[in-house]
Amino acid sequence: MSTQVTRIIAAVLLAASPASLSAKDVEPWKDRSLSASVRADTLVKAMTEEEKLAYIHGLFPPMAKQQSADMIPSAGYVPGVPRLGIPNLRESDASLGVANQVEQRKGDVATALPAGLATAAGFDPALAYQGGAMIGAEARAKTFNILLAGGVNLTRDAWNGRNFEYLGEDPLLAGTMAAAAINGVQSNHIISTVKHLALNAQETARILVDAHIDEKSLRESDLLAFDIAIRGGKPGSVMCGYNLVNGDWNCENKFLLTDVLRTDWHYPGWVMSDWGAVHSTQKAALAGLDQQSGQELDKAPYFGELFVKAMRAGDIPKARLDEMVHRILTSVVASGLYDNPTPATEQSIDYATNAAVAQRIAEAGIVLLKNERGVLPLAKRAKKIVLIGGHADVGVLSGGGSSQVRSVGGAPIEIPLTSGAAASFVRVTYHNSSPLKAIRALAPDADVQYIDASDPAVAAAAAKAADVAIVFGTHWQTEAQDAPSLSLPDGQDTLIEAVAGANANTIVVLESGGPVLMPWINRVPAVLEAWYPGQRGGEAIARVLFGEVDASGRLPMTFPKDPGQLPRPVPVIPASVTLTNAMSDAGATATGPMVPFKVEYAEGADVGYRWYARKQETPLFPFGFGLSYTQFSYSKTSFNSGPKPSVSVTVRNLGKRSGVTVPQIYVTPAGQSSARLAGWKRLTLDPGASKRIIIPIDTRMLASWEPSGWRIVAGQVKASLATDANRIETTGKINVPGQVLGTGSLRSPEE
Ligand code: BGC
Repeated sequence: MSTQVTRIIAAVLLAASPASLSAKDVEPWKDRSLSASVRADTLVKAMTEEEKLAYIHGLFPPMAKQQSADMIPSAGYVPGVPRLGIPNLRESDASLGVANQVEQRKGDVATALPAGLATAAGFDPALAYQGGAMIGAEARAKTFNILLAGGVNLTRDAWNGRNFEYLGEDPLLAGTMAAAAINGVQSNHIISTVKHLALNAQETARILVDAHIDEKSLRESDLLAFDIAIRGGKPGSVMCGYNLVNGDWNCENKFLLTDVLRTDWHYPGWVMSDWGAVHSTQKAALAGLDQQSGQELDKAPYFGELFVKAMRAGDIPKARLDEMVHRILTSVVASGLYDNPTPATEQSIDYATNAAVAQRIAEAGIVLLKNERGVLPLAKRAKKIVLIGGHADVGVLSGGGSSQVRSVGGAPIEIPLTSGAAASFVRVTYHNSSPLKAIRALAPDADVQYIDASDPAVAAAAAKAADVAIVFGTHWQTEAQDAPSLSLPDGQDTLIEAVAGANANTIVVLESGGPVLMPWINRVPAVLEAWYPGQRGGEAIARVLFGEVDASGRLPMTFPKDPGQLPRPVPVIPASVTLTNAMSDAGATATGPMVPFKVEYAEGADVGYRWYARKQETPLFPFGFGLSYTQFSYSKTSFNSGPKPSVSVTVRNLGKRSGVTVPQIYVTPAGQSSARLAGWKRLTLDPGASKRIIIPIDTRMLASWEPSGWRIVAGQVKASLATDANRIETTGKINVPGQVLGTGSLRSPEE
C-alpha cells in the first residue's frame, strides 16, 4: 500500500471520531502532502452540523442582523470555524479592482483597472494575469479572501449595461483572458469566482429574463467561454447568475450546475449564488447550488433556517450538506488560503507600482479606430490644442455597479442616480486622472486648454482657433440597467459635428463601455476608443495620442453601423414588467409579480462577428480591428496540419516606428456555418524588423457539439490569417484528424 493511501486512511479514521481528538492529536487537514479534496474531507468530518450549516449561507454586511467585529462593509461574509482553522470568508467584488461601491468603507481606496473590455482589447493574457495578480494582492492586504471576479459572460447585445466589465463576444478570447485574470488573483492564495453562469446577457429585468437557447448553441458559445476560463483558471468558486436558462433560474438549474459543471466538467469547487438570485431551498440545493450569498437580498434565508427544516424533513439528504461544505473547503485548501490565512489587519500597499499596472493595461487596450492624414500621433510641435467635453479637465469615466472601485486619488465627479434599477448602489463616477494634465505634461510648450461640452458654438469657436481639437465623448453604462441607446447622450453628436466643422484636425476620444454609434465618423480624421480607461486613463490616453506608445488595442466586440444590425436592437422587456431594484427579488416583488419572460437567443452560437457574417452585414468596425501607428506585412504564410495545427507567418514592420500587431487565425470547421477565432499573437516589432512566428490553432475551436458530445470531423478545414474578423491576409487549409471528444471539458492545446 502506498504511503499516500496509508496516510489518507489514517486521516479519515482519525477524523471519523472527533471525540478522540485532543490537543496532540494529528490534525490531518494540516497535512500538506494530502490532496485538497482529502484534507477537505477530514475537515468536514471534524465539523459539527451547526458549523457546516453556518458555512453554506453568507451575509450581506450592510443589511446583516448578525454583525461581528471581523465583518466590514463589503459584498459578503461567511463566518468560519476558528477551532479548525477554517477561515471566515470575506468577500469583495473585484472585477476591476477591490470594489467599494458608493464608498461603503469610507476612505478606503484601491487601484482601479480599466474596463474588462480594455483588458480584452489588449489580446494579451500576460497583462490580464498582471491585473488579476495586482487586484488579488490588494485584496489580500485589505484582508479579503474571496474575490467576486472572473466575469466571462459573452457580449450578445451591444447595449448590455455590463459589457464593460466582461471580456467581449468571443469564447476563446474571453475564456483565455478570464483564465489568466483568475490565475493572477489566485496567485495570492485567495479565491476568485468565475461568473455569472450562464447567459446573464441582459441587465434589464435580469432576474426575470428566461434565456432560451438550444443546447448545441449554448455549449459552443457561453458555456465554451466558461469551460475555457474554468479549465485554465481553476477558480475556487462559480457564481450562478440572476437569470433563468431554458425555464430554470440559474441558481436552481440542474442542467448548468450539475449536468454540465459536475458531470461533464468535473468541477471540484463550489457554486455560490449571485446576490438576490436564490428562489428556493430544496430545488436549489438538489440542483447543485452550494452556498447562498448575501442572504438578506433574497426573499428568505433559503440556505439558513429553511435549509435546516428541509434537511430535518428529509427533503435534502444530510450527505448533500457534507458535499456542499466539502466543495467550499476543497477550494479553500486548494487555493492555499487554508495554509496561508489572510492577515488579521490591513497591510500597506504599494499603490504607485499598482497604478503602473493599470496604466499598462489601459495603454495596451486603447483602440485606434480611424487615423487619416496621419493626424495621430500628435506632433509635439502643435502650438494650440483644445480639449472639449467629457470632463477631460478632471478625470476619466468609469462604469457603474458592483465592480465600482473607489480609486486612489478619489473621485473628482460623482453623480448619484435618482431613479432606475441601479439607483440604490451606483453613482456615475470619474477617476481622478485628468487627460488635460497628462497632455499638458507631454506637450509642455503647447497652449492646451479645456472647454466643457455645454455649448457647441463656443466649443466650435475654440476649435477654430486651435491647431487640434480633441473631443472626449462619454457613454456611461452600469450594471442593473442597459444602455437606453447606443448614441452618445446629451447632444454630444451635435457637439462633435460642430467641432469637426470648425477644425479639420478633430480627434474623437471615446470613453464607453462598448460600441457607440458614430454618425459623424466621416467628418473626423481620427477616433480613439479608450473604453473606461481606469485610474491612469488620462495618462494612457495622452501617451497613445502622442505616440509615446503604439496604438495597439484590438476590438473584442463588433461595433455596429446602426442598431438594426443587432440580433436585438433594444433590450427585451414586456410592458407589464417594472423593476425598481434589480439587486434583489425582494425589490422586484415589491413592484410587480415575479413572472419571468422569454428572451430567445436566436443567433445561437453565432455571437458577435459570427452574427454579422451570417447576416452578411458589414459593421462599422469589426471584431479584432485596430490600427497601429506603423504598418506590417505578412508573408510566407504556411498552414500546418496535424493533431497540433498551427499557422506560421513572417511579420515585418514596414514603418519607421516600433509598433504592435495582433495577427489572428480564424477557422471554419465542419459543423460550423461561419469562421471562429482560433488563435492570435500580440507582438511588438522595431522599425524594419521582421519575425517568423507560429500561431497555434486552438483545437477546441475545431470541435462542434453533437448530441453525443464534442467531435472534430476529420478533413480539410479552411483557416485564415487575418488582422480582424473581416480582413483576411491569406487563406489556406489544414488537414485535421477526426476525434470524438465526449461531453467533458475540452483540453487546451498546451495540455
Ligand atoms: C452582481 C455580482 C456581484 C454581486 C455582489 C451582484 O449584483 O451581479 O456580479 O458580485 O452583486 O456585489
